[in-house]
Amino acid sequence: MTYPSDLLKGQSALVTGGSSGIGEAIARYLAKAGAAVAINYNSSPEPAQKLADTIQTEGGRAIAVKANVSQEDDVKAMFSQVCQEFGTIDILINNSGIQKDAPFLDMTLEQWNQVIAVNLTGQFLCAREAAQEFLRRGIRPEISSAAGKIISISSVHEVIPWAGHVNYAASKGGVSLLMKSIAQELAPYNIRVNSIAPGAIKTAINRPAWETPEAEAELLKLIPYGRVGEVDDIAKAAVWLASDESDYVHGTTLFVDGGMTLYPEFAEGG
Ligand SMILES: NC(=O)c1ccc[n+]([C@@H]2O[C@H](COP(=O)([O-])OP(=O)(O)OC[C@H]3O[C@@H](n4cnc5c(N)ncnc54)[C@H](OP(=O)(O)O)[C@@H]3O)[C@@H](O)[C@H]2O)c1
Repeated sequence: MTYPSDLLKGQSALVTGGSSGIGEAIARYLAKAGAAVAINYNSSPEPAQKLADTIQTEGGRAIAVKANVSQEDDVKAMFSQVCQEFGTIDILINNSGIQKDAPFLDMTLEQWNQVIAVNLTGQFLCAREAAQEFLRRGIRPEISSAAGKIISISSVHEVIPWAGHVNYAASKGGVSLLMKSIAQELAPYNIRVNSIAPGAIKTAINRPAWETPEAEAELLKLIPYGRVGEVDDIAKAAVWLASDESDYVHGTTLFVDGGMTLYPEFAEGG
């Protein structure tokens, strides 16, 4: 752990989809940096509760909280619960995401709607609740220069088109302008809004892409830096974006992708 344990002291964070993969790592790192952490899950209470227990055993503060981020009532109840527990929220990590892949010609409306509902509408609902709480509370200069921080977990597919995954790519393209538009609107209130766009990170969501040596070799052709990403790569970036160390960073997407967005196939062609 490279960050000081008091970097986020006195702050509380909500990580949506904190029960698995990237969200789980971000929740862990935020807690190590001193934040109280609410770990959201939708269908898997056990890993969320286990992480909350571990953080508490290590002297931190954490709770597990259930909500389907695509449901407005769930999201409102989740924010009420977290504010009741921690007093307020300083950091929102908008991370929950799913894939429902299908060739475009065969994609059902249900597959389209499910992905847009979680990946895009979910981010809208959570960001709106967070911003309302940040405005209600205002800045506490001894805690942070900002009234609050929103970090969207996007994807390299906010810019790289992805055949066979048009619902996912459309949701992440939407997250890009959702983030920037919110950032423009909330800057006057000192609310910082940014995205992290991961490349290929080893988690459950993309297991077939890396779990065999053959699949990993194919994947590596797309990654100039020569390794598949780890969840910790994203968590370290998230802690920095959540802290005042990045206080002048606003309305931008930080690509954490080993160079995947560099059009690697053009390195020796074109
Ligand atoms: N892994 C990658 O290579 C990669 C690359 C680019 C972007 N991303 C993005 O990173 C984020 C996290 O992905 P991951 O790879 O860590 O995936 P993951 O391991 O499959 O985790 C997904 C998380 O989202 C939660 N979730 C799913 N539906 C939800 C809902 N309706 N309401 C609330 N939470 C819900 C899951 O909770 P339950 O298990 O409780 O349902 C789980 O905690 C996603 O936004 C994904 O698009 C990942």
